[in-house]
Amino acid sequence: MSFVRITHLRCEYLVAPLGLDERTPRLSWQLESAARGVRQTAYRIRVASTAEKLAAGTADLWDSGRVESNATTHIAYAGTPLASRQHCHWHVEVWIADPQVSDLRSQVSAPSRWTMGLLEKSDWSAKWIAADPEIIRRDPQAIAPTLTDPGTPALFRREFEVPGPVVRATVYATARGLFELRANGRRIGEDLFAPEWTDYDKRLHYRTYDVTGLIARGPNCLAATLGDGWWSGYVGWQEKRGRYGSLENSLLIQLEIELADGARFTLATDGSWTCNTGPILASDLQMGETYDARREHAGWDLPKETPRVVLNDAPPGWAGVEIQGFAKPADYARLANSDAWLPAREVPPPSAVLVAQRAEPVRIIETLEPDHIGNPPKGTYLYDCGQNISGWVRLHLEHVPAGTKITLRHGERLTSEGSLYTANLRRAKATDTYVVAGRPKEVWQPHFTFHGFQYFEITIDGPRPPHAFIRAIACVIHSATPPAGHFECSNAHVNRLWLNGLWSQRDNFLSVPTDCPQRDERLGWMGDAQVFCRTAMCNMDVAAFFTKWMTDVEDAQTAEGIFPDVAPRLREDIHYVGLGNLGGGAAWADAGIIIPYTLWRVYGDLRLVERHWGAMVRWLDWIERHNPDGLRLNQLFNNYGDWLCIPSDTSFGTHSPMKNLLATAYWADDAAKMARLARALGRESEAARFQAMFERVRAAFQKEWLKPDGRLAVETQTAYLLALAFDLLPPNLRAAATEHLVANIRNLDWHLSTGFVGISHLNPQLTLAGHADVAYRLLLQETYPSWLFPVLQGATTIWERWDSWTIAGGFHKDGMNSFNHYSLGSVGEWLFRHVAGIELDPEVPGYQRFVLQPHLGAGLDFARATYRTMHGEIASAWRREGDKLTWTVTVPPNTTAQVFIPSEPGTDVHADGLTVTGREGRFARCEAPAGTYTFTSTYKVEGPAPAGPV
Ligand code: BGC
Repeated sequence: MSFVRITHLRCEYLVAPLGLDERTPRLSWQLESAARGVRQTAYRIRVASTAEKLAAGTADLWDSGRVESNATTHIAYAGTPLASRQHCHWHVEVWIADPQVSDLRSQVSAPSRWTMGLLEKSDWSAKWIAADPEIIRRDPQAIAPTLTDPGTPALFRREFEVPGPVVRATVYATARGLFELRANGRRIGEDLFAPEWTDYDKRLHYRTYDVTGLIARGPNCLAATLGDGWWSGYVGWQEKRGRYGSLENSLLIQLEIELADGARFTLATDGSWTCNTGPILASDLQMGETYDARREHAGWDLPKETPRVVLNDAPPGWAGVEIQGFAKPADYARLANSDAWLPAREVPPPSAVLVAQRAEPVRIIETLEPDHIGNPPKGTYLYDCGQNISGWVRLHLEHVPAGTKITLRHGERLTSEGSLYTANLRRAKATDTYVVAGRPKEVWQPHFTFHGFQYFEITIDGPRPPHAFIRAIACVIHSATPPAGHFECSNAHVNRLWLNGLWSQRDNFLSVPTDCPQRDERLGWMGDAQVFCRTAMCNMDVAAFFTKWMTDVEDAQTAEGIFPDVAPRLREDIHYVGLGNLGGGAAWADAGIIIPYTLWRVYGDLRLVERHWGAMVRWLDWIERHNPDGLRLNQLFNNYGDWLCIPSDTSFGTHSPMKNLLATAYWADDAAKMARLARALGRESEAARFQAMFERVRAAFQKEWLKPDGRLAVETQTAYLLALAFDLLPPNLRAAATEHLVANIRNLDWHLSTGFVGISHLNPQLTLAGHADVAYRLLLQETYPSWLFPVLQGATTIWERWDSWTIAGGFHKDGMNSFNHYSLGSVGEWLFRHVAGIELDPEVPGYQRFVLQPHLGAGLDFARATYRTMHGEIASAWRREGDKLTWTVTVPPNTTAQVFIPSEPGTDVHADGLTVTGREGRFARCEAPAGTYTFTSTYKVEGPAPAGPV
């Protein structure tokens, strides 16, 4: 019998999530097997309220019974209605059809679980609390927050007695601000920047943590630090802090404890908590953090009665670093002094709803050991992480005298003099300061700030005894989206290009998909997200991440139906300078359609589409209302066009024929996508309505811009690409339009001229239109403007501009010069979809049935990719030796692929046991059931077309 494993049990895309508020959560799993042809014929899901019941086969919450189905994804829970706090333990039994054995057999997965959060408002007995401002007034070092300066974050604590042995303890927490929780001397969880960024006027995430291991019979202490974050700190380029109308942070915590004797009690924030200032003097996401370790309150997070030496936070990789000096019994004198800690104030609750966080939290994902590269100017130490990241620097100190001030500054590049380049950070100071406590060993990292940097500079202010030791570690921080894809080929520069896209994704997917992580911006720009989202889905599993963000997008929609340009929305009415209304931009606001559509295609998620359907319809209603003629010329607001196209266009708020064409093309495509989604949802009349809308807009597009010879009245690469990608041309003119596009590229000596928008369509459209040769040529182009140009200048991420920095000319003069901006990296999807050839089936979403079709081109001898879909890991690896092609693919169990083997007509194809059923041009077609296959064929790759303009 061949061996099948059931893996990747997920609930709402997450691994064993705690505190869901989805009442019918969806379950999924994957099958793994090396055998060919493995299929699932039936499944049975059992859900029990305890692990023991599940193990005993008692599914007291839900037993799906045996369901004859090959479905393994999005199976909605359909058992006893789930109440707040419910624990759900589940496994799945699957029946496998394996052609290599005659009997059908079943197998049971390992157990997994999820828990429900607090579903009703009435479940919350905790009160919102804020610090007494007196803690700042009486503390000579503390800073009161203002609209321009961050204030000193407050600490909160509460001691309590647990009367008996604890069987379960769960804490629910949120804040207006950012919280870090501690219990009995230990940090609760590893999450950073919680609650994450949402539109805090409308919704606040709460987090759920299992703290059973941290709470015990006897005296206990729960403690929190409350920082500013997006709530009261600087957001975007807004001149003033306090985006949500308040500079006061507040906290909500509810700890629920169940004892062995069945008793339950709740310890919640209220006026009995006490507050104080602490070691963090100021912290702001953009500005940085100032921390004076001499101000730490020893034992502040411990109950007074149990002095003990505790372990430090145990950051990943440093678990168990022992910090001496906490909780010396002598310090309890200070704690016992009731003046030191003042009662917290109960404050009114927000009007925003509390919702469970439904995506992977932000964490330290990786640490890097930087190189010390010099000392400019004297007295500073300069380090290179070797990689542009977002995160912070952690310091490990030994024997550094108390009071020594260590300042960390961050930058993405160095100036020509070899010092830190910070001009492009604009207002963001990105400076952290640590004042040393003077313990034999200290470990410190910031709490409520992060920076985009490759280089950092340390300045030490104070004496340095010979045995003092300082070590700096760079921590890479982002949303913990699981890796999904890997790409590699024979060209090292292309490999670096792919990696640069992956890094820019990692560095920018921090709670929301941002444009950049370094300057005073870091906003959820919709245009950037939509052009990159498919690439993002190739690199990482971002289903939960985008599901969360779509709620931000809908929250940011106006009452009239206008989708925003950034989500969460900036508030234009307060403290605002700049662009006017931030919404409605063509190709930006349209992300409100494109993202759910792409999530449906890649993850098969229809429920998400259903949930946002009303908002999506309102958007198209709004466009239609203002553009009765089928051309989208009105209400374009900032109208970014093909942002940063060549020659560079960064005008906003203006109109031009190109911008009109682009806007109209995106409207047509919105309508086409809506028609398709409506069909998938069974909304037939809406499908007809949107199909008709698409056709009307297409007709208007053709009338306005299409010439009889297939030329467009606006002759840019992007204009042709949009016309091709969005099916805006009559079939008989597609080939002619493609030739005009290719001529345009050739006239630029095989260079692209597309901006953020057009570039996402460039290589996919060239390939689909039969010009993979041109796509390869653009991919491998090394001179400006091209993908490899920044790689050859030493880029480790995708830059905002091709020439953000050049060896010949140095830095681009504009202040808008990010070195970590993923938009121009949207070519990543093409590497997976068309070079490695792992592609969605045109009809079937979600990869249970998919296409394998690599397009080979001059310049690459091999390419290989793996890609974990919701149905398992697909692999494709090809190699060319002369005209001989060897291609190995893996089709995961319970899936099938249509395989297109590159091969010259009339030559032999070795299909490894599969039957070639037909041919499409230079591809032999076969159907592949699950399994690994190696094909060989003959395929001639033509050399690149001659250089030079025609
Ligand atoms: C951002 C972009 C964004 C653009 C809109 C810039 O400031 O960094 O990535 O899409 O504005 O035009």
